[in-house]
Amino acid sequence: MPEAAVPPTRSLTRLRSAAADCRACDLYRDATQTVFGEGPRDAAVMLVGETPGDVEDREGRPFAGPAGRLLDRALEEAGLDRDRAYVSNAVKHFRFHREGKRRIHEKPDAGQIAACRPWLRAELAAVRPRVLVVLGATAAATILGRSFRVTKQHGEALEWADYAAGSPLTTDDGPPIDDAVVVATVHPSAVLRSRERDAAYAGFVADLGTVARVLA
Ligand code: URA
Repeated sequence: MPEAAVPPTRSLTRLRSAAADCRACDLYRDATQTVFGEGPRDAAVMLVGETPGDVEDREGRPFAGPAGRLLDRALEEAGLDRDRAYVSNAVKHFRFHREGKRRIHEKPDAGQIAACRPWLRAELAAVRPRVLVVLGATAAATILGRSFRVTKQHGEALEWADYAAGSPLTTDDGPPIDDAVVVATVHPSAVLRSRERDAAYAGFVADLGTVARVLA
């Protein structure tokens, strides 16, 4: 597989258009399209999930389906505006298997995450958020390294600088951003799946409240 051909630019439009032709892993074959991040380049907050789901794959926008609706509601309750945030995923193609007519989401594997990492690195370098919100374990492993535990450190305002050296996003040229704060929390799909959904949702909103406090 060729490596992700990331153009040397901070233009999100140019990055998005280059990512549309990405063949760095095999996911492009069955997915409808690349689902690149969306939001303003001057966003203070960047949120990173795992992979687009079925709805996102068809619509071409991250967090456009049920998990996205829950995310939107939680952001609003925490006092944050999704339209002013940049929203993306660790992997930019839908991974699935078929059960009859249904397309069932599958987690991306380590090779797919690594292949897609240059795009996330480029988005981070373009947006340079003040607060980076890590949604769930896949994004946490991608951004903070495999030993990071969301269950232990969710909702904490962490200095990116303390994690940059061990981050898979850091290259020989250095980390893609310098002085951001990182807040890790659960993935909104995990809230939807939780047997104690109300409590899980309240915890999610509380974690996002840390983001609002950092920005205040
Ligand atoms: N789950 C994700 O991680 N990202 C999306 O865009 C949708 C669902």
